[in-house]
Amino acid sequence: MIRWGMIGTGHIAKKFKEAISGVPDAKLVAVASRNINKAKAFNSDLNDVVSYGSYQQIVNDDEIDVVYIATPHPYHKENALMCLENNKAVLCEKPFTLNAKDAKEVYQVAKNKKLFLMEAMWTKFLPVIKKVKQWVNENKIGEIKIIKADFGFFSTIKPENRLFNKQLAGGALLDIGIYPITFASIFLGLKPMNILSECEIGKTDVDFQNAIILKYPKGKLAILSSTIQTDLTKEAIIFGTKGKIVVPEFWKAERAYLYQNQRLIEEYQKPFIKNGFEYEINQVNTCLKKHKINSHTHKMEDTIKVLEIMDYMRKEWNLKYPME
Ligand SMILES: NC(=O)c1ccc[n+]([C@@H]2O[C@H](COP(=O)([O-])OP(=O)(O)OC[C@H]3O[C@@H](n4cnc5c(N)ncnc54)[C@H](OP(=O)(O)O)[C@@H]3O)[C@@H](O)[C@H]2O)c1
Repeated sequence: MIRWGMIGTGHIAKKFKEAISGVPDAKLVAVASRNINKAKAFNSDLNDVVSYGSYQQIVNDDEIDVVYIATPHPYHKENALMCLENNKAVLCEKPFTLNAKDAKEVYQVAKNKKLFLMEAMWTKFLPVIKKVKQWVNENKIGEIKIIKADFGFFSTIKPENRLFNKQLAGGALLDIGIYPITFASIFLGLKPMNILSECEIGKTDVDFQNAIILKYPKGKLAILSSTIQTDLTKEAIIFGTKGKIVVPEFWKAERAYLYQNQRLIEEYQKPFIKNGFEYEINQVNTCLKKHKINSHTHKMEDTIKVLEIMDYMRKEWNLKYPME
């Protein structure tokens, strides 16, 4: 049994709590909030889960193997360092840190202490994504030429909201733009030769939307976008010389479609057991049991490369966060 602790009691922490209940070899041992009453309220439907009123308390708990960090982006670095320094393995929400420099610093501590560390990029562990990789490897669509992926929804502008608030590293790129970039990286690699991008800096001084073109060796292209100001198709399409693969809602994919010569050849559906987070939890459990410090499917090196791509674009946009 792998014993889990959680830091943060917000939106995504609730989803994680639901998912962990569906993983047979995972046990949620404790939850930490900055406020003990919030922790208790969060745990009110659970038996035997300890509530802590500070994050420090959870890393002092000897009954915990790994801590899941579910705080806003700017706190990931300090939360992860605190866990590692207290000998806890870490699964940290995306984006792992605000920039590649911070991620390298945290990774170095994990390596020194031989502790497992991973960004919670759950998309990479979904069965549908595995199936899409298999179709690509079996040459079902020929050589990949172009990948298109977008993630966008309309959110009312509220300056205090995490999505819009510069003090909480708001903006589309770090929150959701990371998914299309990650999707492209799965199939085209992590070393684009050229990065072109544009964004709209909105009235709270963060990127409300962005458009990105990544150019890879052999002329392969990724055309990506993200926005918090309008609904996009929320689809990823991999176009090859012989066909295409369409993945609706690709970051939380439960289905994918394989086409050849414009005809649907195969459809793959895999409904989640809970909400899709169970696959990344399984991955962490497996790595911990094998005493690995890095996941083969989502290495810390992958996390750092994606952050480098985002750093490059933010530099061009002059989008620097106050805490950087
Ligand atoms: N994987 C996914 O699909 C997914 C989806 C959404 C978000 N996320 C990621 O998860 C992280 C949290 O997002 P969320 O939507 O869950 O945020 P949220 O609802 O605002 O919750 C964040 C939690 O962090 C804690 N926190 C610590 N310092 C805070 C501060 N200064 N302001 C606000 N909260 C603070 C709070 O818990 P306490 O008050 O209990 O300490 C709060 O409940 C983000 O990095 C985001 O990118 C991932």
